[in-house]
Order: sequence, then C-alpha cells, then structure tokens
Amino acid sequence: MTAIRSVVLGCGSYLPERILTNAELAAKVATSDEWIVQRTGIRERHIAAQGEFTSHLAIKAARAALAHAGVDAQSIDLIVLATSTPDNTFPATAVSVQNALDIHHGAAFDLQAVCTGFIYALASADNFLRSGAFKRALVIGAETFSRILDWNDRGTCVLFGDGAGAIVLDAQPQSGTTPERGVLSTHLRSDGRHKSKLYVDGGPSSSQTVGHLRMEGREVFKHAVGMITDVIVDAFKANGITADDIDWFEPHQANKRIIDASAHKLHIAPQKVVLTVDRHGNTSAASIPLALAVASADGRLKKGDLVLLEAMGGGFTWGSALLRW
Ligand code: COA
Repeated sequence: MTAIRSVVLGCGSYLPERILTNAELAAKVATSDEWIVQRTGIRERHIAAQGEFTSHLAIKAARAALAHAGVDAQSIDLIVLATSTPDNTFPATAVSVQNALDIHHGAAFDLQAVCTGFIYALASADNFLRSGAFKRALVIGAETFSRILDWNDRGTCVLFGDGAGAIVLDAQPQSGTTPERGVLSTHLRSDGRHKSKLYVDGGPSSSQTVGHLRMEGREVFKHAVGMITDVIVDAFKANGITADDIDWFEPHQANKRIIDASAHKLHIAPQKVVLTVDRHGNTSAASIPLALAVASADGRLKKGDLVLLEAMGGGFTWGSALLRW
C-alpha cells in the first residue's frame, strides 16, 4: 500500500554570538557555576543581541536547513514556526521568515506550545503533508527567551537561552512500513490543570504587557519524567519497537537530570542520548532542532537512523515523535 511519508531532507540552526556563562550570572544573582551545573547540567547559553529578534534567528536557521537539504526556498509551500517569544503579538513570526525567503505562495503560521512547540509543529506539518494539502515544509523552533526572563530571579534566569533550529520536511510516497524514512508517529498531550506551574505573567489580553516567566521548578521537575516516559512508551507501542531499536534519543534540553532520569527509566543507553543543554541552556521550542543540527553536523545522525524526540513544557504540554532520519 502506498502512503505519503514526511521525510527530513535537511536541518540547520543558528545561535546568537553572545555567550553568557554561569560565572557571569553568578556576578549578577546569588548563584554559582557549581550549583547550576549540578542541578541542571547547564554551563553557558547564547543571548540575542539588542535588535536581534526571534525572526532573525529563525531566518538564519531556515536558510541553513535549506542549504543542507539542497533545495530552493521556492519549493517550500508551508512554514510552521514554533515559538513563545514572537517578534510581535501579530503577525506571526513565520510570515517574516516567509517574506525574507521571498516565498509568496503557500501558508506560514506560528504555533505556541512552549517547550513542546517543535513536537507540535512537526506533528502539524506531518499531518498537512500526509493529507496532501502541502508538499514541502519548513518546520522551525525559534526563541528569544532572554526577553521574557526576570533577570533578578535566580530560580529561572539561569535556565534559559536563545536560538533557532529548522528542518525541511518533504512529502514522499512510500509503502508505509517502518524501515522506510520519514516521520513514523507523533503523540501530543496537554493538561491545563498545571498551567500555573510554568507561565508568563503578562500578555496582550490580560495585562497589555509582555510579562516575565514564572515557574515552580520543583513541581515541574516532579511531573516531567513521568509525562515524558508515558508519551514515549505510547510511541514505542504504536510502532512495535523497544528502546533497543532507537539509534538516537534527542530530547528537549531543559535539564540534564530530567534527561538522564527519563533515559534511565526507559532503558535507553547513555551513549544514544544527544545532549546540548550544557552549551545552549533551555531554548524552549528551539532545543530539539538545535540538537538535531548538532548531531547531524558532527556525523552522529545518519540517513536511516531511528530517532526519538520528546518534549515537555508549560501548560503542561508534552509529546513524542519517532522518525527515521
Ligand atoms: N542558584 C542557587 N540557589 C538556587 C538557585 C540558583 N540559581 N535557584 C534556586 N536556588 C535555591 C532555592 O532558593 C532553594 O533555596 P532554599 O532551600 O534556601 O529555599 C534551593 O536552591 C532549592 O530550590 P529548589 O527549587 O527546590 O531546587 P531544585 O533542586 O528543585 O532545583 C531547578 C531547581 C529549577 C533546577 C529544578 O527544580 C528544575 O530543574 N526544575 C525543572 C525546571 C525545568 O526544566 N523547566 C522547564 C521545563 S520546559
């Protein structure tokens, strides 16, 4: 039986030049390199320059992904951009990317699922491609979380960073069996009962301000591993595979302790885990495509590899995706 699969043609990323180290943060708030590394695994993060917006990071990541895929921007008819830090309340940051790439056909929109944004964007693009509505998509995660941090709150300002990553997804007819390339499954979840555990205390309709990120860190930590592992087990069951079949685990990069605990609970070997949180911090919706670009550029991620993605974030939202690279 012939089915359409969404196949990854290439990936790319962009990180702002400025690197902010733990030592620099320790000079501003009551924290230390030792505390941050021990509790989170983070050593440094990138911070966007003044006048450098989410769209600017996204455009650079999109161009890198197109070059890596070896395809022309004009072949793209769908852009789905996951972000919680858009340039403006509207229009969507995705249309700025579309315009910068001189694309004037198809559709471009933003999607907001906080740190799970890239998984939601991937699932949305995959469904559009498999339905036949669009042929080739740019799926982007791009954030400037530095703009919504309270730089006096040591419990949150040490955790996040800025960056962008993108993939090119192509609709290709395939027989629909697991060994072939493409997105094999996506599983999305949310539960608004937890919305006050991780949120931004402002917005156009509530306060007419942008607001700052607020988090009950311990509460988020408490739920993270269970939610992540549940939705990964759903992916394993749906595809009839086990952790042994996975070549690479590319989780959302929020905290090394959450990643390690999830991999341990799922019996995923540590050498299969791609870690970037030490150098990027938590870049929210950008963290997974950034990690994909790192593993692709250093030669770990190869065509045909089975890749497991997962994320969890504000809402709470969480999800998993399984794809053959
Ligand atoms: N430096 C030093 N001390 C800090 C600190 C920092 N940057 N941030 C918090 N602390 C202090 C707290 O004030 C508290 O002090 P107290 O005991 O005197 O009150 C102490 O450290 C313990 O705080 P707690 O929040 O219980 O620490 P923790 O072990 O849970 O670690 C996090 C804090 C934020 C690292 C951890 O809860 C976490 O990673 N949570 C998940 C966050 C996350 O991933 N969010 C994004 C999801 S997408």
